[in-house]
Amino acid sequence: MTNPASNTVFVLNGPNLNLLGLREPEIYGSTTLDEIAGMLEDRALELGLTIDMRQTNHEGMLVDWLHEAQAEGARAVLLNAAAYTHTSIALLDAIKAIQTPVIEVHLSDPKTREEFRHTSFVGMAAAKTVEGQGADSYRIALEAVASGDI
Ligand code: DQA
Repeated sequence: MTNPASNTVFVLNGPNLNLLGLREPEIYGSTTLDEIAGMLEDRALELGLTIDMRQTNHEGMLVDWLHEAQAEGARAVLLNAAAYTHTSIALLDAIKAIQTPVIEVHLSDPKTREEFRHTSFVGMAAAKTVEGQGADSYRIALEAVASGDI
């Protein structure tokens, strides 16, 4: 049974994002995932929302969490599926299978990078995409949820 009144926003992060801050900082910046979580929690408080921030290196876990977002009646999901963005039909299907709106998030702008990053299976089903703004991409996506812009 879903709870339409939920103010919780799931923030789901895929593979290698646990290494943010250390990982290719010239592309992804020096902010860690914990720092992004802290920044989002502060902003969520101001917006009357609650963040449930998670990271996994496993594709099926992201699928399970998308199902859970629906089952818990989450307001929305911010999804940075990282490399699975470009490969995962399972994530495309999961996003299509739930009513919970999903916003695709990326720190970098994959469309200006290697050709293999130009396809986004997540983007084919997401309500909106925010990319290329570094850590701010997450904040902008959260503000889109708060403003009802999805
Ligand atoms: C990323 C972009 C993806 O292409 C890449 O595989 C990542 C991070 C981003 O946030 O910019 O791991 O999702």
